[in-house]
Amino acid sequence: MTFLSEPEAVGRDLPRRDGPAKVLGTAAYAGETPLENVAYLHLVQATIARGRVTELDATAAESLDGVVAVLTPGTAERLASTEDRELAALQDVRVAFRGQVVAAVVADSSEVARHAAALVRVSYAQEAHDVELRADRDDLYAPEQVNAGFPTDTAEGDVEAGLAAAAVTVEQTYTTAMYHNNPMEPHATTALWDRDPAGDGFLTLWDSTQGVHPTRETVATVFGLDEAQIRVVCPYVGGGFGSKGNPHVNVVLAAMAARAVPGRPVRLALTRQQMFSLCGYRTPTIQRCALGADRGGALTALAIDVVEQTSRIKEFAEQTGVPSRMMYATPNRRTTHRLAALDVPVPSWMRAPGECPGMFGPEVAMDELAERLGMDPVELRMRNEPEVDPDSGKPFSSRNLVGCLREGAQRFGWAERDPRPGLRRRGDWLVGTGVAASTYPVNRMPQSTATIRRERDRYVAEIGAADLGTGTWTTLPQIAADALGVPVDRVDVRIGDTDYPVASVAGGSSGMTTWGSAVIEAALAFRDRYGSEPPDGAEASGSVGEPDGRYAMHAFGAQFAEAHVNADTGEVRVPRLLGVFAAGRIINPRTARSQFIGGMTMGLSMALHENSVLDPRTGHVVNHDFAEYHITANADVGEIEAHWLPEHDPYVNAMGSKGIGEIGIVGTAAAVSNAVWHACGARVRDLPITLDKVL
Ligand code: MOS
Repeated sequence: MTFLSEPEAVGRDLPRRDGPAKVLGTAAYAGETPLENVAYLHLVQATIARGRVTELDATAAESLDGVVAVLTPGTAERLASTEDRELAALQDVRVAFRGQVVAAVVADSSEVARHAAALVRVSYAQEAHDVELRADRDDLYAPEQVNAGFPTDTAEGDVEAGLAAAAVTVEQTYTTAMYHNNPMEPHATTALWDRDPAGDGFLTLWDSTQGVHPTRETVATVFGLDEAQIRVVCPYVGGGFGSKGNPHVNVVLAAMAARAVPGRPVRLALTRQQMFSLCGYRTPTIQRCALGADRGGALTALAIDVVEQTSRIKEFAEQTGVPSRMMYATPNRRTTHRLAALDVPVPSWMRAPGECPGMFGPEVAMDELAERLGMDPVELRMRNEPEVDPDSGKPFSSRNLVGCLREGAQRFGWAERDPRPGLRRRGDWLVGTGVAASTYPVNRMPQSTATIRRERDRYVAEIGAADLGTGTWTTLPQIAADALGVPVDRVDVRIGDTDYPVASVAGGSSGMTTWGSAVIEAALAFRDRYGSEPPDGAEASGSVGEPDGRYAMHAFGAQFAEAHVNADTGEVRVPRLLGVFAAGRIINPRTARSQFIGGMTMGLSMALHENSVLDPRTGHVVNHDFAEYHITANADVGEIEAHWLPEHDPYVNAMGSKGIGEIGIVGTAAAVSNAVWHACGARVRDLPITLDKVL
């Protein structure tokens, strides 16, 4: 295939096709879909963390001018499936977490809906709640498996013996905080329940989602509808980071409200504060890590025992220990996960679930081990390269961690580094540098189909894929063009609509692998059928195939950070971040760079700022807005560079590309913590790195 050996469009830094519409404000997002006579939905949320609603008085709300309907557990429709209890909106009077929806108001304007929601009087029978995650709880349990289908625990060799035989050991506890996804565009849905031409009920959802087809499937199940009765539309998404990876209760409520006022569109745009209860978050983790090494730095044992939370109503088991299963070679290894089911909102996906929190503890522990060995931390990592994937025993399709570390060290100026902490001072600031490794699996979803059609002198690829701001609008045409052997400016794509062929979720950095493979299959079928002179209207489809099961497939990276710690105040600044990644073929350097530095910036945010503060007395995240939930802003980021190795991996997919949406956040926080130690000598094992922890 010509695009493999001599790509024309793939590899070019083409600007975003959706850029002008977004900059000009003409790109309509889910909450601004232009429709007539829109009604607005506003939610009433529980003010207790556990108990039940005893009385709900909507008289004042209903008497307000402009109120169309009030949905309560007494009046809301009975859903066909309540198996997913996160989605079982208004089906009973139980309250399982603070912020749970207990009623909802539909009105002619968003202002009236919000005012009326505030007038709904709710009485509760409150029960004692429990929202405190601790490693010493006696009710921790082992889930059947952790997310993405991984085993809960793994064991190999004898960790205790490996630690006993080690020349040097590190045994410490590391914690990551609770984090909330905060995409620029809050979750929003416009829903219309109407009749199709045959007179049957038909639901249209303009929803901000990472996957129109997965959303349709879930909504069909919840309401007992046929998938053919639902259309989900989402051409643009203002970010999601996983929180729009599966529909949350807001989507169900919007659809439910639309069905209560047939023929009239209903719009629900969550407020920023509501997003802190209703659309998932990253569970806090407690990671007990143990490393042992011989004098030469070879690991004799590696263990990570993870404790994290889930909700009482739905299990979500972050796969935090999973990256430790494949990262380094050691004869003795243990990884475990235990959960506490608490009276908290349901955790969910957040950028690099598993890898992101799971590479914090181990990568700081590796730095501590290097310190005790008197060995350079880059060198220590290189000495523990496995020959094959230690977890599966399979060879890696490609593994260029060493190349990333080497190139990163060279670009960052690591060679001149004095390893001793607390020695460098610039004015009032102590200066240090740190490194950490990064990894993310190459995921491929089982289902996606693309159709390619000739329309007059243009080629059109259709697939229900999503563009979260990641570049799909731009990169899929690049792949299609090379697969068709035509110039990229003759190729259009149509995505973000269930009217197009089925596509998988934009999650697990799987989008390009999955949809790109489907597009290539469609293009090959198209060329097979029509040759080089396809007539107008020529059309062919293709679907993503099975992954090559012979290999373990992962992207790798090396993160370098420079930290400055104010000697008087403990303030931490990070003027420099540098990442080098080995992520297969890069489809578009411009959009790829944005993904990498976006991930690194989010990792910096995790290192220094982000922290959802859950008040145990109320079960409430008290800093539930941008005034108090701090996210790294422009002024917090200094120089930030992302580089990549020219990696050609023929096994991952036809493009040779590995996913890049998530690896940028992995390891960043550990690199920053390691740099902070090098600057001032304080080992910060609990994120975020705030000034009270370094002074
Ligand atoms: Mo990503 S958290 O897999 O959407």
